Amino acid sequence: MMNTLTKELQFTVRGDERGSLVALESLCEQVPFEIKRVYYIFGTDPEAVRGKHAHHKLKQVLVCVSGACDIRMDDGKERKTVRLDHPAKGLYIEGLIYHEMLNFSRDCVLLVLADAPYYEKDYIRDYNKYLEIVKEKANERTN
Ligand code: TYD
Repeated sequence: MMNTLTKELQFTVRGDERGSLVALESLCEQVPFEIKRVYYIFGTDPEAVRGKHAHHKLKQVLVCVSGACDIRMDDGKERKTVRLDHPAKGLYIEGLIYHEMLNFSRDCVLLVLADAPYYEKDYIRDYNKYLEIVKEKANERTN
């Protein structure tokens, strides 16, 4: 999980004749942390681009429980966009990944599970500062 830009997740769907159910718990295979916060984004303008930040530490699992949106990720070297378009499809994002959410469908409800409460100081919103921090971390690893 460390050196990859993203980890796409496929959740187990417990379906029967009544419909479908996905259950996610803290410290399960798909959510490798204690869930401390849940938030969801809905009613998003399809033209809007949200996110545009990385985190120092926060770990998150994202899932579109309704509709679809794109998650564009950047680790300072590589870029990748993943479309979340099914409630059984998730994305694990570790801290130092700069990410944006865009191309929201009108019915999109993007659910996010996080390993910590909201903490503004954990945000890195400036892209150039983000690149500096990534470089510093890489230097720490090689020295
Ligand atoms: P913002 O960081 O702009 O959302 P996004 O990263 O999706 O573009 O957050 C919008 C507002 O909501 C901002 O005032 C901070 C607040 N907020 C919380 O209070 N708690 C939270 O868990 C989150 C994610 C945001």
